[in-house]
Amino acid sequence: MINNCVPVRIAGVGYSLPETVVTNDDLTKIYDTSDEWIYSRTGIKERRLVSGEEDAIDLGFDAAKKALAKSGIDPNELDLIIAASSAPPQLYPAIACHIQSRLGIETDIPAFDLTAACSGLIYGMQVAKGFINSGIYKNILIVATDNNSRYMDWSDRSTSILFGDGAGAMVLTASEDGLDDILSIDIKAKGSIGEFIYKDNVGQNCPLVEPCKERDGFVHMNGKEVYKFVVKILPPYIEEIIEKAGLKAEDVDYLIPHQANLRIIQAVQERLEYSDEKVITNIKYYGNTSAASVPIALAEGVEKGTVKLGKDKTAILCGFGAGMTWGAAIVRLRDGIC
Ligand code: COA
Repeated sequence: MINNCVPVRIAGVGYSLPETVVTNDDLTKIYDTSDEWIYSRTGIKERRLVSGEEDAIDLGFDAAKKALAKSGIDPNELDLIIAASSAPPQLYPAIACHIQSRLGIETDIPAFDLTAACSGLIYGMQVAKGFINSGIYKNILIVATDNNSRYMDWSDRSTSILFGDGAGAMVLTASEDGLDDILSIDIKAKGSIGEFIYKDNVGQNCPLVEPCKERDGFVHMNGKEVYKFVVKILPPYIEEIIEKAGLKAEDVDYLIPHQANLRIIQAVQERLEYSDEKVITNIKYYGNTSAASVPIALAEGVEKGTVKLGKDKTAILCGFGAGMTWGAAIVRLRDGIC
């Protein structure tokens, strides 16, 4: 039986980062750049990168275990796994299927990946919310994980400085107390400007037909156009999401944005007239970890004490990236979620 609008509870959030640190100074060994150039334009000082055989599945599995531990939900109680990934080590099996297997889940619950780049967590939340609201599924694990560094052109100094690797995970469940932790949520896409950020799959045509153009498997980005587009659309969009939740900007406790560029974050901060304490950033240490950046910033913020949890605490989560896609949610941050 399908119940209408079962409310959603955010039950657990976790994250995982590779150990290997590559600083801006390290990057000067591979191309002509400087710490000053990178830091002043992006706010990034260093990033964590996968090394050896380590990959986004390992990171995603680790983040998933942490989020599940916080949620108190056993992996075998899950009804669905969604992995938000745009730079996975394999296109298939889906990362979500790998995570299902590594968690030792004995039931054949569905597991799939969605590609919404750096908006992946918000897209995953919107999909999961639909399943929970409708009563189709109760317990859903979202894993946002990418090994971006493996798909960088490490001679392209304007793109490869930005990205780092990492994973975040979130467990959503049906709320038992009637309170919905997703106060408002929205996702958007504009495919007509998809060429701003793209990554081709490498392949070739059948030898019996005309050959296709050779492609590399690298991430390509028109940083200037991305910057201009995001700075224009994001601040008013976030105001709309706050309004949709029936709140005013000053009512929300934290802005936990996608960590792509500190100047983009500051543009939103200025529009909302938020103090630095309300804006959670860790881009300095991790760069852009795509869909993982929001859950990493949230869970690390709680660990560091910069984010306080409680039934009355709320945050704006927002993402934007290839597609172009973007999305935002106003969420309640209950005690014990991370
Ligand atoms: N070190 C030193 N110089 C660099 C450099 C680097 N790492 N990268 C680029 N440059 C140089 C360029 O070669 C260019 O030199 P030229 O004028 O002699 O040709 C100059 O700096 C300006 O390059 P440009 O690419 O126009 O820089 P920019 O001011 O747009 O900054 C980004 C580049 C990538 C930092 C910036 O566009 C950005 O952050 N955009 C947003 C990207 C983003 O958020 N993407 C993720 C979305 S999820």
